[in-house]
Amino acid sequence: MPESFDPAKRCNDHVAKLREYRVTSQDIWKMAKTGDIVKADWNESGAAPSPRVNQALQAFLKGIPLEWYPDVEATKLREALAEYCNCTVDQTQVFSGSDAALEYFCRAFLNPGDEVIIRTPTYDNFRVYVESNGGQVVAVHNSSPFELDITAITKAITPKTKLIYLVNPCNPTGIVYSEAQLETILKAAPQAIIISDEAYFEFYGKTVVPLLKKYQNLVISRSFSKAFALAGLRIGYLIADPAVLAVVNKIRVGKNVNSIAQIAAEAALTDIPYLNKYVKDVTRNREWLVAELTKLGYVARTTVANFILVQVDNPTAFASHLKNEWIYVRDRSYMPQMEGFVRITVGTKEQAQRIVTACERYLELSMMISF
Ligand SMILES: Cc1ncc(COP(=O)(O)O)c(C=O)c1O
Repeated sequence: MPESFDPAKRCNDHVAKLREYRVTSQDIWKMAKTGDIVKADWNESGAAPSPRVNQALQAFLKGIPLEWYPDVEATKLREALAEYCNCTVDQTQVFSGSDAALEYFCRAFLNPGDEVIIRTPTYDNFRVYVESNGGQVVAVHNSSPFELDITAITKAITPKTKLIYLVNPCNPTGIVYSEAQLETILKAAPQAIIISDEAYFEFYGKTVVPLLKKYQNLVISRSFSKAFALAGLRIGYLIADPAVLAVVNKIRVGKNVNSIAQIAAEAALTDIPYLNKYVKDVTRNREWLVAELTKLGYVARTTVANFILVQVDNPTAFASHLKNEWIYVRDRSYMPQMEGFVRITVGTKEQAQRIVTACERYLELSMMISF
């Protein structure tokens, strides 16, 4: 490589000035044994997927050669999704994670200089996809991150608005957009596409899919990484008007949605009772966790998803104490309006008990240090 070659300057101008998405700690991948870890930092499932996933994968490995590319149209999975989502097969498309779906979406629709409204604080990966394609992020917030006044969003709409990104329910704040609020935004921006990110749909139970009948400019993204417990296989999907998906399909690499992920997702969709039980457990454990932490004196906020927030004086010390007890949580305090907040993913009751015990010990230790 010539000495004067500087990749940081030779890359795409948008990428050169990009602030990357901060991933959570990857320490666990260096450990020999992960059995004692409570992974409460990235909103994954706290339990394994339905046993049917394992059975389907075993059968697949015996039957279909791994040397073949996958079904790029994901025919069987999309048929199952259409039934699950109450839409038509041509209103669905699958991707290697909903992140990939959102990234393709930005690549397919954004021209440099297009405005993209993002209601903040929110899931930050989308900003990266927007900015790397030259889009201008118009960050909109209310005075409290936990209250939603959609007039701040509708006022930010201009003729240059190309996309509006709303996470519903929102990670990390837990706020939700009602169907009526979404409809007001859709009407106010008929020239733009409104993305409702429903990664946590299964926990919340409400969707804006019925609005697709009236609005061609609505797109819904969903994930198999959360309630379906398939984060490691990377699979997610979009629900949208077929004409909108046809644009994304022009650049989508269907081969990237690997066979194992397709088979696993399809099997998970055959076991809705298992999903419902997990969602019920998480809901119960979430409320229990918030109640126990509140009893201990913590400021704890519940959500309608699989995570809660706690507000502490020293989030770095808090997260690092929990890590010493093999519990990984996500410090969100560097995000604007999230000062002091740490997000904790909720899974099983046993995991929630471990979290409460560690939080109790953190308080005891803090008291000892302050004396
Ligand atoms: C709001 C939101 N959207 C999308 C994702 C990414 O999901 P996936 O694993 O399907 O890429 C996440 C993951 O944390 C999320 O919180």
